[in-house]
Amino acid sequence: MIRLAILGSTGSVGQQALDVVRALPDAFEVVALAAGGNAGLLHAQAREFSPAALFARPGRDSDALRAETSAAWQPLDVMATRDDVDVVLVATSGLAALPATIAALRAGKRVAIANKETLVVGGPAVRAALDAGRALGAELRPVDSEHSAIWQCLWGEAPESVERLTLTASGGAFRDYDPTALDAVTAAQALAHPTWKMGPKITIDSATLFNKGLEAIEARWLFDIPLDRIDILQHRESVVHSMVTFRDGSVKAQLGEPDMRLPIQVALTYPDRGAAKPVPDLDLAKRGSLTFGTVDAARFPALGIAIEAGRRDDTSAAAVSGADESAVAHFLAGRIRFTEIARLLAESLDAHRAQRTEDLEALLAAEAWGRQFVDSRVAAGVR
Ligand SMILES: NC(=O)c1ccc[n+]([C@@H]2O[C@H](COP(=O)([O-])OP(=O)(O)OC[C@H]3O[C@@H](n4cnc5c(N)ncnc54)[C@H](OP(=O)(O)O)[C@@H]3O)[C@@H](O)[C@H]2O)c1
Repeated sequence: MIRLAILGSTGSVGQQALDVVRALPDAFEVVALAAGGNAGLLHAQAREFSPAALFARPGRDSDALRAETSAAWQPLDVMATRDDVDVVLVATSGLAALPATIAALRAGKRVAIANKETLVVGGPAVRAALDAGRALGAELRPVDSEHSAIWQCLWGEAPESVERLTLTASGGAFRDYDPTALDAVTAAQALAHPTWKMGPKITIDSATLFNKGLEAIEARWLFDIPLDRIDILQHRESVVHSMVTFRDGSVKAQLGEPDMRLPIQVALTYPDRGAAKPVPDLDLAKRGSLTFGTVDAARFPALGIAIEAGRRDDTSAAAVSGADESAVAHFLAGRIRFTEIARLLAESLDAHRAQRTEDLEALLAAEAWGRQFVDSRVAAGVR
């Protein structure tokens, strides 16, 4: 039995993780579930899985659940370090689970991380926590499909034999749009991802391709490889999830239908492969062909901004990540246009007074600065 804590169980990744549990009921015990505001869904999950610990943000539904449940009501960092938890799935959005991730690693937990912002903003602090907890059994396992693919390609390989990592990119909702039409696209159009079903923030980040920049920074922290050895390759079908080039010229890739349940299961059951197939077999003959190409950097300026921020190796990545968090929220609320997201990110990178630091407080302060910078630009009427 793998004893699980799922942080963000009511979100897209969290709900799919519970699908994996349903398909392998003898493999898992759900010990703890945490949600944000959707206490109604958390309530239903609690009835189905009877966890020992629960959390949701205070509110009417949350207070009702708390009054009714016999489960312990525990904040994320407490549930992530419980003695009866083996694997912690970090499936929250934003930075909600950054302290819990650090606490879990320090306590020697196996952490399966879906959340990007935690690594992009807190990368140095998360790596330090992993190093501190390693002797107790701490592991950091990727969940994102691209990083899961790279992780699987690296199993059994010596680190010094790795030459390059290649992240594949579907191109998002606007890959075929005329760039001049992007000024007028709506949130509904941006939320219509061609190959993946995901939460709103990551779907908008996929449409700007900022997401691929976040993934490159994430890969740098997960696999300890500099950004100039990480490539982005456009691959429309999202079947080749990513690849690794080795020093002898061999290339290994991992393929599968685009469905998060497979990388989630890999991260939860590692080093075993689970005995259920969460996704139908890939039928390459039926697909016929797969396509690859370069990413149009001019159409997607947010990608270059994220990579540049990551390359600076200071608080710039945290600042730009915070700026994006806010810019995406303003776009979804109809306050700014789609193209203004990248413009605000560029402005925030220019304006940020960066410092090189591993201090978590300083990294979080840079992230908060980025959010406030965008909020004040939007309040002043960005154009
Ligand atoms: N979706 C994907 O396929 C996918 C793929 C790769 C990586 N990721 C990454 O995984 C993370 C989650 O993505 P998602 O698409 O699943 O997001 P999502 O659907 O928006 O779900 C976010 C989850 O976090 C919870 N949450 C938010 N604030 C919280 C707080 N303060 N305390 C506790 N829980 C909180 C939400 O709870 P409520 O709903 O109850 O408010 C929800 O359960 C993101 O970093 C994303 O970039 C996602």
